[in-house]
Amino acid sequence: SELYKIIQGIPKAELHLHIEGSFEPELMFKIAERNNITLAYDSIESLKKAYLFNNLQEFLDIYYAGAQVLIHEQDFFDLTWAYLTKVHSQNVVHVEVFFDPQTHTNRGIAFEVVFNGIYKALEKANKEFNISYKLIMSYLRHLSEEAAFKTLEASLPFKHLIDGVGLDSSEMGNPPSKFVNVFKASAEHGYKLVAHAGEEGPVEYIWEALDVLKVIRIDHGNRCLDDEKLVRRLVEEKIPLTLCPTSNVALKVIQKMEEHPVAKMLKKGIIATIHSDDPAYFGGYMNENYFETTKALNLNKDQLMKLAINAFKASWLHTDTKQKRI
Ligand code: ADE
Ligand code: ZN
Repeated sequence: SELYKIIQGIPKAELHLHIEGSFEPELMFKIAERNNITLAYDSIESLKKAYLFNNLQEFLDIYYAGAQVLIHEQDFFDLTWAYLTKVHSQNVVHVEVFFDPQTHTNRGIAFEVVFNGIYKALEKANKEFNISYKLIMSYLRHLSEEAAFKTLEASLPFKHLIDGVGLDSSEMGNPPSKFVNVFKASAEHGYKLVAHAGEEGPVEYIWEALDVLKVIRIDHGNRCLDDEKLVRRLVEEKIPLTLCPTSNVALKVIQKMEEHPVAKMLKKGIIATIHSDDPAYFGGYMNENYFETTKALNLNKDQLMKLAINAFKASWLHTDTKQKRI
């Protein structure tokens, strides 16, 4: 369609992408086979049929199960390279990629195996596709702060190559304040701070992410419109939100795309941006997210451009974190 062609033509930045969430069933079966692992599903089709979720936790259970087949550096490289090849074809020119070290280190995979595979694919895409990138290590919030501290420690040999830390996994019952000490320590090591907040959780979690963790960007933040004072804060302090529309529909954060809050957020002056979160599970990479959102909310060209420009504004492209930390 005409709209899809326009979206394809826009150079885009992806700031909210879990690399484990880009694991397509075809590649999962291929890697499982070469690692002699039997998946719980007997075919790609039956695996895909399991991708129906009523909430975040139902998704996370399947997402963590899928990641279990990743064993060797080559597996992490192939996963990351497949993602980068895909988004390159969609005219994505900058990515800020999350990875979840604990999903792997808890199974006995060394941090450096995970890191090296991802990093080498990012470097290759930088050279061959001219895609620029940042890397963000996420702490799993359903685990303890002590476990996050161990992950922070494991990352230190690579800290000159990792740009930030995030907070993901099961939101309800795991408020940002649970991680106040490890976020403080992470900042002292030079990591930039972001956190998932207000996806399923209440507006209080967004306040905590800002006031207690001191994050500079909120992942999701859908619920912020519940609180006028918070909206003013986000606007005044220019705190971006990285929204993920197809994820929100797939996880029933909203009932249908027409209810997505991004248009209201733009009207209020929030630096709202659009990303894919876990595209292999939610059926949409960057173009599909822009397309579905634009269609459902009837966004005009100015709003569409605003979204694309906001992502570059919200990115860390202009910051040379690596140099600063030496
Ligand atoms: N991990 C991967 N995707 C996630 C999401 N949408 N929310 C929380 N944790 C996640
Ligand atoms: Zn996410």
